[in-house]
Amino acid sequence: MKRLSVLILAGGKGTRLKSNLPKVLHRLAGKPLIEYVVEAASPLKPSAVWVVVGYQADQVRKTLSHLPLQFVVQEPQLGTGHAVQVARQSWEGQAGHLLILSGDVPLISTQTIETLVTEHERSGVSATLLSTVLDKPQGYGRVVRGEDRSVERIVEENDASAKERQIREINTGIYCFAVSELAAVIGKLAAANAQKEYYLTDCIGLLREQKKAVAAIVCEDSREVSGINSRLELSQLEHLVRAKKLDRLMRDGVTIVDPSSTYVETDVEVGADTVLYPNVYLESRSKIGSGCQIYPNVRISGSVVGNEVVIFDSCLITNSEIRSGAQIGPFAHLRGPVVAGRNVRIGNFVEVKNSQIGDRTKAAHLSYLGDAQIGEDVNIGAGTITCNYDGVSKHKTVIENGVFVGSDSQLIAPVTIHRGAYIAAGSTIQQNVPEDALAIARSRQVNKENWARKKRPSRRKE
Ligand code: UD1
Ligand code: MG
Repeated sequence: MKRLSVLILAGGKGTRLKSNLPKVLHRLAGKPLIEYVVEAASPLKPSAVWVVVGYQADQVRKTLSHLPLQFVVQEPQLGTGHAVQVARQSWEGQAGHLLILSGDVPLISTQTIETLVTEHERSGVSATLLSTVLDKPQGYGRVVRGEDRSVERIVEENDASAKERQIREINTGIYCFAVSELAAVIGKLAAANAQKEYYLTDCIGLLREQKKAVAAIVCEDSREVSGINSRLELSQLEHLVRAKKLDRLMRDGVTIVDPSSTYVETDVEVGADTVLYPNVYLESRSKIGSGCQIYPNVRISGSVVGNEVVIFDSCLITNSEIRSGAQIGPFAHLRGPVVAGRNVRIGNFVEVKNSQIGDRTKAAHLSYLGDAQIGEDVNIGAGTITCNYDGVSKHKTVIENGVFVGSDSQLIAPVTIHRGAYIAAGSTIQQNVPEDALAIARSRQVNKENWARKKRPSRRKE
């Protein structure tokens, strides 16, 4: 392959989305639209990738700061042609070809881009555009072909005649240009059109006027080149991406009880023989092991779950690690960073925040464990609360291996319960407890004999 550079157009506001967020940062299955485009192009190993940013440029830059990209700012945004003009200094000096991609066409595949570039090079034309045929071409630029079927120009919907609007072959907004040929026409664009914008699409007609050869490659799967211009289109693609992901998981051995109500983001991994029940959400690169059961209404985000883990109904788990054999929920909240060791049991209405929990430890009912370091084989009784916050700062509770914390205890941090100690039920612990000791910190019970009988009205005494 000859030298190739890539220009991604991402400067527009996305007016039709009616949003404060730039269009290319809207998320599709959890990932900003533009990241899909960057990922599709990167296997081609381009010599450079520039992204034209404009509307809320800083925010787009920040979101993409983990990727090897260069940015060009387009201010104001006067159309797709103007975006390419603004970036001219970057691409003009490059040898070979320039692949132009649209930040709002996220499902484009590497394979299709590769075919476009290879075919463009093979044919030696000035420009090759990627088109597709749609039953409903409304909203897209149409590819106008001459009598000999060669591409003549692209006409935008708003500028098209009634006859041109009937053309079903549309421009996908993805092109490969010979750099020198693009440079020869990019300065000639005019904004004499319905939107008063400089259209990149006009370059095709300009090249043809100069008797240059232009080709189009038709993308067979039109869903791959759908542009996102409205919230409706966003939801339609979301549906598609989600279905594809679930198909792949099921082929890899995951049971999905009801795919229509299961939401798994593209970058999530799930092992074979795991069962996902309805209304499960797996997000933000979570990794779920094999043989797990994830019951209804569970959301797991940015977390790693081992093998044979059972997560009962209605749990929220974020930025946590749950090791193999653990049982979580129902109604548990793990707010990371949390590490739950092997075979732990975190049960009903237990909230765990920023804590490590050792292997086989149990907190089965109604607890708050925050900023705690809990050892192995610990029993946390029902209603235990780590009092980690004094109104100003957070403090740590350390519970060593084999400790038994009786029900309804409060552990006022900072505090350490040493190995093997017992805490009597109902205690308020504010001092460290030595190894193997029993700590009782509750008021003594007094039984007043016959107190109730004396209190009762005399009538009932008889
Ligand atoms: C564009 C094409 C249209 C094609 C469609 C495919 C033009 C004039 N029209 O229309 O033929 O069928 O894509 O999806 O190119 N952008 C900038 N700066 C700007 C304007 C836009 O960077 O000043 C970026 C946008 O952020 C977006 C991309 O260019 O990522 C396309 O812009 P958009 O406004 O969506 O163009 P369409 O109307 O969809
Ligand atoms: Mg668009």
